[in-house]
Amino acid sequence: MLRQKAELIRPIDAAYKKIAGTMIEALHDGKGVGLAGPQIGLMKRIFVVHVDGDEPRVFINPSIIETSQDLVKYEEGCLSIPGVWADVVRPSQVRVQAWNERGRPFTLAASGILARVILHECDHLEGVLFIDRISAPKRNRILTKFERRRRA
Ligand code: NI
Repeated sequence: MLRQKAELIRPIDAAYKKIAGTMIEALHDGKGVGLAGPQIGLMKRIFVVHVDGDEPRVFINPSIIETSQDLVKYEEGCLSIPGVWADVVRPSQVRVQAWNERGRPFTLAASGILARVILHECDHLEGVLFIDRISAPKRNRILTKFERRRRA
């Protein structure tokens, strides 16, 4: 399911307020910074983000409006691939449009960790994982190690 494209949410009804709350709880339980629908088997375009020094944020049907030319390398992990970390290059800033859990539209300009997490979570909605954004030899090395550890 992590490889499938998530579906648009229409309409954004009251159920999504509860779903978003459950996802934020799961995010905190997993000590993560972002969690997308497909990671909990919900193939819908929703993710939650909570980075240090910020409030929890809910993104429904997000669109990336703009990304900076400026790229930055940062070490990423993912709750769905526990114990795996790798440097990933991404735009340093992003402007995103989405709806919140109450169905209200908003636009957010983000930089730093927040931008990083938003881009990582948007990828999840397309079935893309952060390991897809590193070189093939590095990916193979990391996945071999991951599989070996999982079988142990
Ligand atoms: Ni992830």
